[in-house]
Amino acid sequence: MAYNKIKTIAMSYPYQIKSLDEYKVAYQKSIEDPAAFWEDVANNFVWKKKWNSKEDVLQWNFKEPKVEWFKGAKLNITENCLDRHLEERGNQPALIWEPNSPDEQSRVLSYKKLHEKVCQFAHVLKNNGVKKGDRVCIYMGMIPQLAIAVLACARIGAIHSVIFGGFSAQSIADRLEDAQASFIITCDGAFRGAKDIPLKSVIDDALIGNKNIKRVIVCTRTRTPVSMIKGRDVWWEDEIQHVEEKGLSYIDAEEMDAEDPLFILYTSGSTGKPKGVVHTCGGYMVYTNYTFVNVFQYQPEQIHFCTADIGWITGHSYIVYGPLSAGATSLLFEGVPTFPDAGRFWDIVDKFKVNILYTAPTAIRSLMGFGLGPLQGKDLSSLKILGTVGEPINEEAWHWYDEFVGKKKCPIVDTWWQTETGGVLISNLAGITPAKPSWATLPLPGVQMLLVDENGKEVVAEGEETVAGNLCIKAPWPGILRTTYGDHERCRTNYFATYDNMYFTGDGALRDKDGNYRITGRVDDVLNVSGHRIGTAEVENAINMHAGVVESAVVGYPHDVKGQGIYAYVIYQGSHAQNTHGTGDIVRKDILQTVTRMIGAIAKPDKIQFVSGLPKTRSGKIMRRILRKIAEGETENLGDTSTLLDPGVVDEIKNGRL
Ligand code: PRX
Repeated sequence: MAYNKIKTIAMSYPYQIKSLDEYKVAYQKSIEDPAAFWEDVANNFVWKKKWNSKEDVLQWNFKEPKVEWFKGAKLNITENCLDRHLEERGNQPALIWEPNSPDEQSRVLSYKKLHEKVCQFAHVLKNNGVKKGDRVCIYMGMIPQLAIAVLACARIGAIHSVIFGGFSAQSIADRLEDAQASFIITCDGAFRGAKDIPLKSVIDDALIGNKNIKRVIVCTRTRTPVSMIKGRDVWWEDEIQHVEEKGLSYIDAEEMDAEDPLFILYTSGSTGKPKGVVHTCGGYMVYTNYTFVNVFQYQPEQIHFCTADIGWITGHSYIVYGPLSAGATSLLFEGVPTFPDAGRFWDIVDKFKVNILYTAPTAIRSLMGFGLGPLQGKDLSSLKILGTVGEPINEEAWHWYDEFVGKKKCPIVDTWWQTETGGVLISNLAGITPAKPSWATLPLPGVQMLLVDENGKEVVAEGEETVAGNLCIKAPWPGILRTTYGDHERCRTNYFATYDNMYFTGDGALRDKDGNYRITGRVDDVLNVSGHRIGTAEVENAINMHAGVVESAVVGYPHDVKGQGIYAYVIYQGSHAQNTHGTGDIVRKDILQTVTRMIGAIAKPDKIQFVSGLPKTRSGKIMRRILRKIAEGETENLGDTSTLLDPGVVDEIKNGRL
């Protein structure tokens, strides 16, 4: 079949803000007339059919909630990420892939090549029975085939749900069930640093008892021995060969409604069960592109290196969809920052002459710990812009990044956003709006932030003071989540019910007299460990699964590298540990093993303190405030403990603090 020529639009970005004044004008317009503002931006994309009128650009209410952008418009996001670039930049690298080991060859996929691979794999999906709207779970390492799989799903209108390679079989099983997924794409294994993770075998465990999965497509990466089940499991490479033998290449991009789901991505909340955040085709595309082009001030031909994993939202939005829809070159790195040594990022920057580096504060802090040695002899002069995401960045890490990586020449963007927001909501625009170390600074155009007190009353500064409050948003932007998969009520109660007519982020923040925001952290029971969101209830549920555990309470505490560490207080009944080893250490390890099984190694507590009781009110509620303070090292001002059922337990916990 021939490549179906679609109209290309030259890749200039007329909506790229070029000065502080332009930012102010854009912001003003976006607030006064959001539909007109986003209609102008959306006109720069390839639509199979546009929305009928300005009224259809945005319809919403936060009561249900219902948010629709570009209602009635038709598109396929892959035509925007691939086809429209073929004519003008077909030979330009779309993806550069750097493997885990520096001894292995890197790979470059031009836009033409990526288009070809995506079309081919889209045929594979169709041949295996995948249809528009089917949920496809993707559990792979960071190899080009992961991006290809994601885009191939989008090509045929299947809804992808990528699961980070660090999650356990049980977590996958829960997600497969919740999403009612019928297909899986995975690898035999994944290389991560010195480790070789047996992905397929984890999938096999996840599939015990699963009746919905029709097909598992397995891509070869590590050559780890795998069991392939007849009738269910097929090799990626064999399937590609069938497609080639049949002479199938180009495939039409499925016509999607702007509001059709594009993907589901699970994220933790304050309840025990992760939520399937749903993003849709039109708004998500426009928003990730707009934020990519503006926050990073992307210039054609620059090389953008986002170090996140595609298993998280950052990888979805700023490795795949944002950069590719902007015709950028996006670097995909399989490994970790410290393998084979702590100079790995700098080697990659040097090797590919990376222009934009986007990483997490936890990675910066971890690399700071290795001193300046790993930076020596690395040419970082190609770097133009640096970015951070995922957690508050402390000033020390900010200055280190600025001085030793950016050589004081590169603006640093501190980008605040969430899985639910699709793209960046608060950030300085690189070199355009001022940076302020450890402050995410100003909301992007279209983003109407406000701070509220516990009662939902807006916090307004009197004079020039800095104010604090819970961070909320008044009106939708195109990248806002539309629902939580299979349970819209959960979406409403989680985000839209705490305060009337507002989206509640779950974060607390400060605002200075100039309107800059500084995120102070979560105000709900969600932890941020190395930039990963983990619900305390989820960890508690996992710990409580362990035989002998009566009850547990999990809180966060400040951790030098991870930002937050996980501190668990556990009531353990059973003398097994004492009898066999005379110490609780073996039980600790058993509990860690249980958490690894139930969630994954990322949720393992850093500290486990055995206690005989937990501080509870007479109504049975755990006073987490007290536990949090003790974990943070504060043993004096614990506040009022008189309402506790058994105040004596507090002294015991204080004395046993780890
Ligand atoms: O608490 C905020 C923190 O990460 C949370 C969102 O986590 P997740 O959905 O996993 O997405 C992470 C990547 C977008 C937020 O509620 N967070 C994210 N970025 C920042 C941040 N905290 C402070 N500063 C940031 N730049």
